[in-house]
Amino acid sequence: MARCYCHWRRVLICVCTPCITLFLLMVFLTVMICTRVNNTFSSDGIPFRVHFVAPGLLSNNSFAPVPKTFWERHNDAFWNRLQLTMDRHFNPILHPYNLKQRFENGTSYESLLKQSVSEVSNSTGGKFGQLPQQIQEFMCHMQRRDYPTLIQPDGQCGAGAKDEEEPPFLLLAIKSTQLNFKNRQAIRRTWGRVGWVAAGQRSSSGGGERGGYVRRVFLLGKDNTEDLDVVLSELLRLESKHYGDILQWDFKDTFFNLTLKDVLFWSWFSRSCGQTRFVLKGDDDVFVNTPNMITYLQDQLKKPQAHITMKDFMIGEVIAAAAPNRGNLSKYFIPDSFYKGFYPMYAGGGGVVYSGQLTRRLHEMSKRVHLFPIDDVYVGMCMKRLNAHPIHHPAFLTFDFPGKEEEKPCSYHTILLVHKRSPEQLIQLWAHIKDTHEQCWDVPLRDGKR
Ligand SMILES: *[C@@H]1O[C@H](CO)[C@@H](O)[C@H](O)[C@H]1NC(C)=O
Ligand SMILES: *[C@@H]1O[C@H](CO)[C@@H](O)[C@H](O)[C@H]1NC(C)=O
Ligand SMILES: *[C@@H]1O[C@H](CO)[C@@H](O)[C@H](O)[C@H]1NC(C)=O
Ligand SMILES: *[C@@H]1O[C@H](CO)[C@@H](O)[C@H](O)[C@H]1NC(C)=O
Ligand SMILES: *[C@@H]1O[C@H](CO)[C@@H](O)[C@H](O)[C@H]1NC(C)=O
Repeated sequence: MARCYCHWRRVLICVCTPCITLFLLMVFLTVMICTRVNNTFSSDGIPFRVHFVAPGLLSNNSFAPVPKTFWERHNDAFWNRLQLTMDRHFNPILHPYNLKQRFENGTSYESLLKQSVSEVSNSTGGKFGQLPQQIQEFMCHMQRRDYPTLIQPDGQCGAGAKDEEEPPFLLLAIKSTQLNFKNRQAIRRTWGRVGWVAAGQRSSSGGGERGGYVRRVFLLGKDNTEDLDVVLSELLRLESKHYGDILQWDFKDTFFNLTLKDVLFWSWFSRSCGQTRFVLKGDDDVFVNTPNMITYLQDQLKKPQAHITMKDFMIGEVIAAAAPNRGNLSKYFIPDSFYKGFYPMYAGGGGVVYSGQLTRRLHEMSKRVHLFPIDDVYVGMCMKRLNAHPIHHPAFLTFDFPGKEEEKPCSYHTILLVHKRSPEQLIQLWAHIKDTHEQCWDVPLRDGKR
């Protein structure tokens, strides 16, 4: 009897030990995976942990609580669900084999995006009709990105000087619309001049003639003006012939279509701008202190480890822990049936600078992130997935000068960029910068502490 008992115990041990080991292994793996996922989504290790809230996002002006992850797995919000299906396809545990092979094919990404939209749309069904018109329109077209190019710039990478002796240093990529001819003209005559631009004199290291070649391109869709369409298109064609700095695609130029300008611009950049160091992407109503910008960026390149940091380099006015705008009268309105959770940290879209290297990485990453109606938030989402963090700099004023600081004598010499200025103001400001150059050349950039 005792022997028999002993025998059974041995069998039990033989069977149970592997089971327990397996169980422990599973627990270990699960914990590992969870911490990995959390690490990718948590915002630790950011050089500047600032907590701005974009104006108007919370009616009581308080700071939003800092989110742990920027998007949560809410199954009842359309975008969250779409992205979840997309992420499942790229999950190395669910699909361990030939991930790379399958997605070397550009078309695979597209079909995957389309497939997930149709999957999720089918199960959303009735709720679609209750969404606001603008969101419905966005959702109908959000899987499409292959809009044809109507007008291309002359040069390889935008308009530039004919006699460039080195690769372009900075490409100015400016979002514009067909009707905004005056804005484009003012930019061309002021801060957006192409060719060699000398750096501001302030630079710490001096030595030799510093500066860089600047190029320019305007990013346009098609305005929704049916009766004027022929005339406008003809004018734009003439403008392009004269300046060679227009890049126009065949999609409707609406606020919710601005994200397409990012995605299509990254794709064009990756094809056409092999050696360009930096991109400034901004609106056509910003004022940029271009010489300061060149100085600042050249100083960044001189830092130790620059060849590594440039992989992730993005700088602007960083907005962290912002919540979607839920006021249905705002142009930023995003209903919670469309997106739930916080926005990832992002740089305000009025004006932001990033490296050419990062542009190419964003291009690759964007293929697996569903379009989001708000363009700068979308860039933030792609950044998050690259595990890259935009850097905040107080000299980027996408919400204008605070208080009366603008009235100080050298205020425009302390900034890199300010939003918003009319075409007339751009001309005045540019002249003002030139006039006060002597007296203001050594003022430092804003550090946000004043
Ligand atoms: C502001 O609004 C948020 C969200 O509605 C709320 O959580 C927070 O407590 C409010 N803060 C104040 C100071 O009322
Ligand atoms: C890539 O796409 C082409 C055409 O759509 C298809 O024939 C081919 O099988 C695809 N390759 C892979 C590896 O999926
Ligand atoms: C979604 O519905 C349409 C028609 O209602 C159908 O053609 C399509 O196959 C469905 N897609 C999926 C993924 O079920
Ligand atoms: C974006 O552009 C496409 C193509 O012109 C258009 O069909 C769609 O309605 C536009 N989307 C929005 C949200 O305006
Ligand atoms: C906006 O929201 C208010 C109340 O929250 C509602 O009464 C109104 O109908 C909504 N407007 C639209 C255009 O959906």
